[in-house]
Amino acid sequence: MSHAEDHDSTRRDFLYYATAGAGAVTAGAAIWPLVNQMNPTADVQALSSIRVDVSGVATGTQLTVKWLGKPVFVRRRTEEEIAEARNVELSALPDPDARNANIGTADASDENRAMDEAGEWLVMMGVCTHLGCVPLGNGAGDFGGWFCPCHGSHYDTSGRIRRGPAPENLPVPVARFDDETTIVLG
Ligand code: FES
Repeated sequence: MSHAEDHDSTRRDFLYYATAGAGAVTAGAAIWPLVNQMNPTADVQALSSIRVDVSGVATGTQLTVKWLGKPVFVRRRTEEEIAEARNVELSALPDPDARNANIGTADASDENRAMDEAGEWLVMMGVCTHLGCVPLGNGAGDFGGWFCPCHGSHYDTSGRIRRGPAPENLPVPVARFDDETTIVLG
């Protein structure tokens, strides 16, 4: 079981208990100390950061983890994917912003979106910026990256929108390597 799944099940458990707890509140004030102990603020804080074990992610494949209730794509890109992403003229990009929470406003060059200098790792929210569907990956779409079938948005190998109604590139969340095989989200 990966760390991410671990957290996921913890979250489900918490949601279940939180719901049960909320119901109990209406039953009487005596239950309050127990509910108060399960302070959601502390729990939410713990969940706002998760560790993802990427040791099993082979080149050319993608891991999808759930973080804060949303899918996050962790892709280990091939040389070809990296080269393709880096050879694109910035003027060809509908959204000129990197959309990378780790660096603030910057141009949408692939270097400004990848996790590492070599560009091997790409981490981004798996939520289409049009209306929130989860795009298909593994080379889907006309630009070899991701494709959202809901209304036909094509993202390239850097997760940048290239064609279709989505207005923005897939956002890169706060993420860092903690060690060689562990990415921390949040
Ligand atoms: S939600 Fe993805 S194209 Fe509309």
